[in-house]
Order: sequence, then structure tokens, then C-alpha cells
Amino acid sequence: MRTELWHGFVFVNLDADAPPLAPRLAPLEPIVAPYRLEELRGEFLADPDYRFEHDYAWNWKVYAEGQNECYHCDKLHGDTPLMTQTDCNSIDFGVMEPEHGVFHFTLRNRDIDVTLNHLGRAIFPAIPTLSEQQRWITHTITIAPGVLLVLMPDSVIALGYVPTGPTLMRVKRHRLYPRQTLARPDFAERHREESLAARAFVAQDDYAFERVQRGLGSRFAPRGPIASRERVLVGVNQWLLERYRAEMT
Ligand SMILES: [Fe+2]
Repeated sequence: MRTELWHGFVFVNLDADAPPLAPRLAPLEPIVAPYRLEELRGEFLADPDYRFEHDYAWNWKVYAEGQNECYHCDKLHGDTPLMTQTDCNSIDFGVMEPEHGVFHFTLRNRDIDVTLNHLGRAIFPAIPTLSEQQRWITHTITIAPGVLLVLMPDSVIALGYVPTGPTLMRVKRHRLYPRQTLARPDFAERHREESLAARAFVAQDDYAFERVQRGLGSRFAPRGPIASRERVLVGVNQWLLERYRAEMT
């Protein structure tokens, strides 16, 4: 087993001979650098009741498909404050490296400091190292197979997910804030409403995942085409297919 630190995240690989991770993630450096990820901290530090680990009864690829595209965002989440402030047509694919399982796209927002909460705009200060231009953009990063980072103006959502069975999976979900935001005396109180809105947003996805999993079990369920806004899904599947093939030979 080997471990590697990347901007404050500890990556564990059960293969002691695995190549180092950092070169694989090098194309992400210019994107993540302004967010100073290593200086952010999880909301659970300020809210002892925050539950960051969740078990679900669907295949991990159902979840990965839902997290790695934003084709559904203005539909499934269309009524949320976040999505009314986000221009989903502005999707722009940046780092797309199927051979390394690293993907990235941006969405341009309709206002500065748009974020996931009950208002759709930040109630806490922006990450202080971001430029004004960066505060109009949301970055979504996928590190295959099971890491997703959503870089927002005030915080970063970090998801890690692993399969625990053919139709079971576990997610660790953290929202990371600058330390000075977590240290605010009013953080816990103001964050409560924000957190409720985030959970409601996640619940919309969960509603869909549960039904997709159920649908996949039907012999009448058709397989659909991948849309142009879902380029990351194509890349993740290419990455995965290569590894399945390597295992089989
Ligand atoms: Fe979603």
C-alpha cells in the first residue's frame, strides 16, 4: 500500500508498486492552485452533527454518471437557487485526459459568488486567493474512479465514493471552507440553512439514482445515447474499459 498527499488530500493506493499520482494530476495544477485546497477545512469541524459518510443501494457507476455530468442540472435541479444562477449552456470542457482518468469542466454563473445554498449566492466571504474573474466560474473536477471536486467561490465540495457491493456504495461528502470562515462565531448558525439547502439538492440526485438503479434491473429498460454535455462520461468509460480489459488479459 502507498499513500500520497495532494493539496491536503491523502490518496491511498493498495498497490505498493503503483506509479506516483501527482504527475497524473499535473494538468489540474493551474485550476486548483488559486483555491489553496490544502488550507481549506471540512464543515464537520464546526458542526459535530454533520454526517459525512453515507451508504446507498445503487451501483457506484450510476452515481458516477450522475456526478460527472451537468446535463441534468437545469432539469432535475432546475428549481434550486443555485441553478437559477448558473448558465448550464456555458459548459466548457477543459482538462480531458481519459488515459489518466482526469477530467474537468467549467460553468459560468449569472452573478459573482454563486454557490450551493438556499440563496444561490455566497453568505460567507469568497476564498480570499481567488481573482474576481474566478469568482464567476464553477469548476468540476473528476479523478477516476471515485473522486469529485466542485470548486465554488466560497467553498469546495469534495466527494469520495467506493463500491461496497454490486448495488451498494459508500460516499464521503465534505464541504471545505477557508479556516477563517469556519472560525466565524456565526458560522454554525448561518451554515445550518445553507446545509439544509445542500442536502435538499443532494436528495434530488438520490431520488434519481434510486430510480435509475431500479430501471436498470428491467429487461424493458432501453440504453440511451450520451449527450454532448456529457463528455466526461465518455472519458470515464474509456478509462474504465481499458482497466477492465487489462484485468481480463
Ligand atoms: Fe445532480
